[in-house]
Amino acid sequence: MTVRSVILGTGSALPAQRVSNAELAERVDTSDEWIVERTGIRFRHIAGPEETTGTLAADAARAALESAGVEASSIDLIVLATATPDQTFPATATRVQSALGILDCVAFDVAAVCSGFLYAVQVADSMLRAGVHRRALVIGAETFSRLLDWEDRTTCVLFGDGAGAIVLEAQDTDGEAPQGILSTKLHADGRYNDLLYVDGGVSTTGTVGKLRMKGREVFRHAVTNLASVMNESLAMAGLQPSDVDWVVPHQANARILDATARKLDLAPEKVIVTVDRHANTSAGSVPLALDAAVRDGRIQRGDLLVLEAMGGGFTWGAAVVRF
Ligand SMILES: CC(C)(COP(=O)(O)OP(=O)(O)OC[C@H]1O[C@@H](n2cnc3c(N)ncnc32)[C@H](O)[C@@H]1OP(=O)(O)O)[C@@H](O)C(=O)NCCC(=O)NCCS
Repeated sequence: MTVRSVILGTGSALPAQRVSNAELAERVDTSDEWIVERTGIRFRHIAGPEETTGTLAADAARAALESAGVEASSIDLIVLATATPDQTFPATATRVQSALGILDCVAFDVAAVCSGFLYAVQVADSMLRAGVHRRALVIGAETFSRLLDWEDRTTCVLFGDGAGAIVLEAQDTDGEAPQGILSTKLHADGRYNDLLYVDGGVSTTGTVGKLRMKGREVFRHAVTNLASVMNESLAMAGLQPSDVDWVVPHQANARILDATARKLDLAPEKVIVTVDRHANTSAGSVPLALDAAVRDGRIQRGDLLVLEAMGGGFTWGAAVVRF
């Protein structure tokens, strides 16, 4: 018998307000045609004044608990990935804990920007397999709209707000095609800090700052790093790209998704795409895409998934999961 972290349920939450490319074109010098052609994005959701990373995360967590059919009180670990916490401290994970009425558990945030959910999955998976905890909520949640420079057309059209969550449980698994997380692989390379960053911070400027990005260079690194980490995680699980039923990628740009799938010789129909309606929701994007494909019936129990993401740092990672 091997202990693995099995996904019991998935959930997600989006702000009520949905903004089209045409509406953005009224604010900055851009067009629906440019955005669709270069990125595949058509809509993004933008948080209103009452909506925060914490409220979206709590809504996504409630939906995941419902789909898992378990009580909030049974959760003993919350790992929340975000680069846009409600407050500098305490961790947004503790705000989710309180919103869910969980009286005692371990709760903390991890920061790896767009790869944050993959980092959170590896952290939670390690703690569950070590026997330290039994049932975890792993959440990716962001309100990137609050970090955007709305005068900068090269970045403000690319991002949106949202959250996704999964419930993981440590289970004894066995057999030919065991369920659960089969492998995770993470990377970071801090030499590339200045290609994608926020120009503020508590201990530097004392301000929140705005997102800055050299998009073309990020693009180039993304395709290479994502293809390579997907291959690494599959090899760790003793599997090949041809074994994969669904790729659940970070949703930054439709062209990155296409180019990465081509590198691995994966059929485009196997790639879950939500970037058209959500844009890039950073740590929220992988669990949002996962939940969308579970709810619309594409992802079924027993399917083999590869989750992948890359973000500021650079950080990047992948996870192989039998759903
Ligand atoms: C950002 C990105 C869409 C830009 O596409 P690109 O094809 O590289 O375009 P460029 O940056 O070379 O810009 C081409 C032109 O479009 C213009 N442009 C940029 N943003 C525009 C916008 N929103 N609307 C209209 N024109 C725009 C540029 O000013 C440039 O004009 P110029 O040729 O007159 O100087 C693309 O580089 C990308 O997706 N990069 C990865 C970003 C990413 O995924 N980041 C997150 C990772 S977690």
